[in-house]
Amino acid sequence: MAKLKVYEYPHPILKQKAEKVEAVDDEIRKFLDDMLETMYASNGCGLAAPQVGVSKRVVVVDIAHEGEEPSPIYMVNPKIVWKSDETEICEEGCLSLPSLRAEVERPASVKVVYWDYNGAECELLAEDFLAVAIQHELDHLDGVLYIDHISRLKRQMLVKKLEKIRKEQSGN
Ligand code: NI
Repeated sequence: MAKLKVYEYPHPILKQKAEKVEAVDDEIRKFLDDMLETMYASNGCGLAAPQVGVSKRVVVVDIAHEGEEPSPIYMVNPKIVWKSDETEICEEGCLSLPSLRAEVERPASVKVVYWDYNGAECELLAEDFLAVAIQHELDHLDGVLYIDHISRLKRQMLVKKLEKIRKEQSGN
């Protein structure tokens, strides 16, 4: 396995619509392994392929807490087929927008269909934080970031904060 480079905002690949995967083969499985390792190494609970510079419809999610048994979910060509009318507000962060967090409102439950690690067709009804994580990651496949769901003013504030943090880190 190999840890991959995480692309950060405003890299243009994060705004692209990702391509469908033809089949879950060994190459995709190796990529899924690398994505999972990268996500764990960055303490993330989800990672989408565009975030590591690959414009493919591939996502990994694991919402297990530290100290709990890992429970990775591998999703190839995932698609949300149902969303609840009920919504929930949750604080989100993103490895492509390091150090930032913001509250986002989304459907509280979703049903998603996808191919798993072995290429089997799966259907999952996700609720609560898993539903948030899945919607956040699937957004990445369509070039959407969580900051696209908040007001323009809040988004501008967050981007300014990110620029300030980067300046501080570079020592200028
Ligand atoms: Ni993200």
